[in-house]
Amino acid sequence: MKKGRFITFEGIDGAGKSTHIQFVSGMLKQAGIEHIITREPGGTPLGEQLRDILLHQEMSVATEALLMFAARQEHLEQKILPALRQGIWVISDRFADASFAYQGAGKQFSWEKLEQLETWVLGEVQPDLTLLFDLPAKIAEERRSRTHEPDKFEQEKSDFFLRVQAGYLKRAETYPERFRVIDSSQTIAAIQSQIADIIQSMIDT
Ligand code: TYD
Repeated sequence: MKKGRFITFEGIDGAGKSTHIQFVSGMLKQAGIEHIITREPGGTPLGEQLRDILLHQEMSVATEALLMFAARQEHLEQKILPALRQGIWVISDRFADASFAYQGAGKQFSWEKLEQLETWVLGEVQPDLTLLFDLPAKIAEERRSRTHEPDKFEQEKSDFFLRVQAGYLKRAETYPERFRVIDSSQTIAAIQSQIADIIQSMIDT
């Protein structure tokens, strides 16, 4: 059986991931490709409990990084890898790149320690494709304030999000083969036509 593909969605809060996840899911459905949509932190019962703690309680950034990777360990073992093995595609709303962007770049936690955690938890596993939604931090902030009450991370100041965005771009430079950086200041139609090309070529190969 052919292994499933692993697609992750990343970007600063307010960059529009959620809308585009639904779009990609619709494309896969039309192509008759079985897939699941999941998220981080979260994705498993324990992971969702950790999410609740991570998004609402204050803690040191080291604890935060460890809990993010603890949730990720569960997520990989219980949900992502079993699905991929069965040929099911996995769409994840955030994955390990988010820890580098938020804890690493945003909160200035050691990049090297994050790499150690990544090696430990992920081993050789990397997404097949990462769509990074890139939007000026100022515009993302305006979008967030219009849509919902902010969680712990969303209450951070603008310069935090500038650092997060830079952290994501640094990861994109490190892994150019799996990253596609999408300019999210374009219209939704333009963004989706770009995504459609990327996903279609994945379906065709
Ligand atoms: P997000 O997935 O954007 O959910 P929602 O769309 O419901 O707001 O929120 C999760 C938050 O967790 C987001 O602010 C980024 C943060 N986060 C980290 O700081 N590190 C991580 O490793 C992950 C996966 C998320």
